[in-house]
Amino acid sequence: MCGIVAYVGNRDAFPLIIKGLKRLEYRGYDSSGIALLEESQLKIYKKKGKVSELEDQHTGKDRKSTIGIGHTRWATHGEPNDVNAHPHYSNNRKLAIIHNGIIENYATIKQNLIKKGHVFLSDTDTEVLVHFIEDIQQETGNSLEDAVKLALREVVGAYAIVVMSVDHPGQLIAARKGSPLVIGVGENEFFFASDATPIIEYTKDVVYLDDYEVAMIRDGKLTIQNLDNTQTIPYIQKLEMELETIEKGGYEHFMLKEIFEQPRSIGDSMRGRVKADDAHLHLGGLSNYLDKLAEAKRIVIIGCGTSWHAGLVAEYLFEELARINVEVEYASEFRYRNPIIKEKDIVIAISQSGETADTLAAIELAKAKGATIFGVCNVVGSSIARATHAGAYTHAGPEIGVASTKAFTAQVTVLTQIAIAVAKRKGTISEEMYRQLLVELENIPAKVERVLENASTIKEIAYIFTYARNFLYLGRGLNFPVALEGALKLKEISYIHAEGYPAAEMKHGPIALIDEDMPVVFLATKDGSYEKIISNIQEVKARKGRVIAIVTEGDTLIPAMVDFVIEVPKTHEMLTPLLSVIPLQLLSYYIAVMRGRNVDQPRNLAKSVTVE
Ligand code: AGP
Ligand code: GLU
Repeated sequence: MCGIVAYVGNRDAFPLIIKGLKRLEYRGYDSSGIALLEESQLKIYKKKGKVSELEDQHTGKDRKSTIGIGHTRWATHGEPNDVNAHPHYSNNRKLAIIHNGIIENYATIKQNLIKKGHVFLSDTDTEVLVHFIEDIQQETGNSLEDAVKLALREVVGAYAIVVMSVDHPGQLIAARKGSPLVIGVGENEFFFASDATPIIEYTKDVVYLDDYEVAMIRDGKLTIQNLDNTQTIPYIQKLEMELETIEKGGYEHFMLKEIFEQPRSIGDSMRGRVKADDAHLHLGGLSNYLDKLAEAKRIVIIGCGTSWHAGLVAEYLFEELARINVEVEYASEFRYRNPIIKEKDIVIAISQSGETADTLAAIELAKAKGATIFGVCNVVGSSIARATHAGAYTHAGPEIGVASTKAFTAQVTVLTQIAIAVAKRKGTISEEMYRQLLVELENIPAKVERVLENASTIKEIAYIFTYARNFLYLGRGLNFPVALEGALKLKEISYIHAEGYPAAEMKHGPIALIDEDMPVVFLATKDGSYEKIISNIQEVKARKGRVIAIVTEGDTLIPAMVDFVIEVPKTHEMLTPLLSVIPLQLLSYYIAVMRGRNVDQPRNLAKSVTVE
């Protein structure tokens, strides 16, 4: 959670940091703040609410500083208010800190510092850390850099931090463990940020800081050391991201832009990998692991939220196509059990951000038990991408809307490619089916385009159900995870209670909820369970439920029995989720907009969940 931006160089730091924080606002947005060095004084400005409120407070004021640190918060310790917002001062106000993560042993450290006379203003764990650094500096007489390292050796938890000091103008010290931090290297200027988006318009040269590394900018130079003082040579990489990918490009919201980007992003997740004409399917990251996957007795898929739903889709694909036993686990549950990992088990970790704390911890646990871990991540260079043995990027491009859309379809596309590749290697699908799947995969972007053409029909349905209090989403087989995903989307951004269920499970409980006020979304495309889903629709209609059905183009049977229909083109049954999820994304989007919700930044949520 939370966004970090820091700058040192020759530019005006305040506007640069504000702009960067706005880009990172998807990560946390309950309060924000900036520390600057103005007229040799360390000044902190902070405010509850959005970054624009902090900005408005300073309009017309001359904030002159060429060094600064800024933060947009997602509170863990202490309510979101002006005082708890970051940056925080140390006791003598000579240091300021911004922090992403949680210091788990903050309470013990705080108690000791209080005994020594430290006075704390906020409820945060972060303020404790900066006081602790100052205390160590005073007690040991060490340099600030060494004091930071000594403090971090005592700390339990996760952090990305940047510290600045009034006594060292021109110096920034940053460190990470478990929370992301990227360093932008410009000409006589340096940037720190939680991801590369605040940096790309200034420089494409970046260094991804690793866990337990401490970076220091001093006298215009970057040095990196480990907590145990060993020096590492900064590995500078070129960013491939383009500026327009992180801007709204004329859309009202990032979420809408990202929904409409899907024909392209799905295409990008297959680019260079699938070529149906030549019966070619090749994922670079997979090549050395294809045999391992083909020999796997079991695949364990881990993820959270939408990524977990993509995992559920993959369960059907791997079982059906490659005949491998699959278990899909919430990373947060997996990590706190004592999971049985056997030789020849493969773990696939799915994550858009590549920073989700639970998924990362689950990976470490599985690794410690000797498993081979394969990652499916969107953010290049992210912690999960680096923690896995091998992987395939989804290449969906930056996803800014908190509700995941294009990342989900890209994850499913990549997982489908992996399942097909493994099935081919194992010989569990015929050559004909293999070719047919590749052809159909290549046709998906154009078919998604056709679903998007139904946006106005979906908007009309959204209008009718704007004030519904509950929603039920039902599907069978591959459409069951889609039902879960549809319900999650609606909950997240419209705050309407929604549940996804396997359609046949309805009669074991949820059917009691059905009456004339209950909208029920059926995923009713023409597939192996078509006849069965018709029976489920009848069960709902018999109880006066209002049915919205996602059907295959040309279907005449279901439209005659339901209240509303949204058509999707026909495709291979295995690829259905890539089409049937699109109307659900749009439905939740329009309902949320009509209810006046903050679609891109829904309450209480953050894009990248770096705390457990
Ligand atoms: C999806 O709309 C969510 N906001 C959320 O469930 C998300 O999918 C989850 O937090 C996992 O994130 P990750 O893919 O970045 O690991
Ligand atoms: N734990 C810190 C706080 O509550 C940082 C939270 C964050 O990552 O935004 O202030």
